[in-house]
Amino acid sequence: MPSHTEALTRIGFAGSKRIRMVDFTSPHDGMRGKRALISPPFTIAEYASRRERLMAAIGPDSVAIVPSASYVQRNSDVDFPFRQESNFFYLTGFDEPDCVLILTPGNSQGETTLLLRPRDVRNEQWTGERLGPDRAPQALGVDQALENAAATTRVPRLLDGRAEIHTFLGANKQFESRLFSWIDTLRSKRKQPPARFCQLSETLHELRVVKTELEIEAMQRAADISSEAHIRAMRMCRPGLFEYQLEGEIVRTFFEHGAREPAYPSIVGAGANACVMHYIQNSDQLHDGDLVLIDAGCEFQHYAADITRTFPVNGRFSSRQRDLYQVVLHAQGAAIEAGQPGAKFSDLHDTSFRCLTQGLIDLGILNASFQEAVEKELAKPFTVHGCSHFLGLDVHDVGATKKGTLSRTLCEGMVFTVEPGLYFPPGPTCDGIDDGWKGLGIRIEDDILIEADGNRVLTVACPKEPEAVEATMHGD
Ligand code: GLY
Ligand code: MN
Ligand code: MN
Repeated sequence: MPSHTEALTRIGFAGSKRIRMVDFTSPHDGMRGKRALISPPFTIAEYASRRERLMAAIGPDSVAIVPSASYVQRNSDVDFPFRQESNFFYLTGFDEPDCVLILTPGNSQGETTLLLRPRDVRNEQWTGERLGPDRAPQALGVDQALENAAATTRVPRLLDGRAEIHTFLGANKQFESRLFSWIDTLRSKRKQPPARFCQLSETLHELRVVKTELEIEAMQRAADISSEAHIRAMRMCRPGLFEYQLEGEIVRTFFEHGAREPAYPSIVGAGANACVMHYIQNSDQLHDGDLVLIDAGCEFQHYAADITRTFPVNGRFSSRQRDLYQVVLHAQGAAIEAGQPGAKFSDLHDTSFRCLTQGLIDLGILNASFQEAVEKELAKPFTVHGCSHFLGLDVHDVGATKKGTLSRTLCEGMVFTVEPGLYFPPGPTCDGIDDGWKGLGIRIEDDILIEADGNRVLTVACPKEPEAVEATMHGD
């Protein structure tokens, strides 16, 4: 595992403890200087290899069909920011709306077909350049590209005689009505439409759960930018500021490095707001003597980071805050240590839960033996959530964590979070416990990669030992 200093050096903090900019070659480093519309972030070979692996997994009698996202209207002439559908992006690296990818293994006319929007001078004057079918094969490495209007006549024959359609149903009504119209066309011509629908998640998500080198590089960058954002928020923090001002510093840091989308709405919760898991109002003032919890991470090349840090608004932990913080930090360290190749996904939560339980007993918050407290899950009202989730193109990334009752085995290339927390909201949850704990909420979250013979904390550049947090806040 690299040290804190090594990680700072890697992201351009070398030779100084003071914050310096990450050394990006251009503000558009996210696309490596290429035009975003025309060029996927990774090599064409990377996407071709993903498509080949998926085709091998579904088998030669099947067809896989994956729709892209579409624009979503916010109001009148304004759309929500466009975010590509992650499965489609994983297989193409293509960032335009209203496309469909069709994979037909073994088809001698070409195994990969992309439906996309046509070039359109008038529309492009409003919303920007489109790739168009003529340029798509070379830009994306697909065998053929058809404009959407050609699908009605050309796509049904791609499905003819295939036994199974592997796709996603239930999420995109417009796509489903197109898909069923293609099947109806085949039926009306007395051809052989596929007889079975299969969940594409069962094959595709198994590929997505193990990251390639290029994905790990992008995730490391997302982690580095997000770490820097947290450091800057720590340095800026002082009583009297508002939560949204820290959020602004976080998001500004993301943008500065070409990471223009947070991976999820940033949570900045001071005082008791830290006890609200999805607190995104971020509208309260920061008070001397309180803690503030920040859960924020950027997307870089569509890959997420997910970091939580909790620190004292005034720059010094009180002894009660420090005691509780140490319990969470110890649980997190133990769970990270448990996250080794060959371990079970459930080991992460089990390890952290046992440490948190022991910590609550040691602090006098739980009054029971360790055995009784674990058996009766007495810590659960204060731990609230699970300890880990996979991370990737989605912040809560795909991939089953168990099959039936059996927990998944961790293996090289998996990336997940470790994020234990303890929360004491004012109100009935804390009836009967010492008032001094009420209103405290602490979570510590890092992103972990499983390597061949151990693990790597991608977010190691973000300080979390209480002394390192205080030193960062004081500008050391
Ligand atoms: N930021 C969402 C989570 O930690 O799961
Ligand atoms: Mn998380
Ligand atoms: Mn988080």
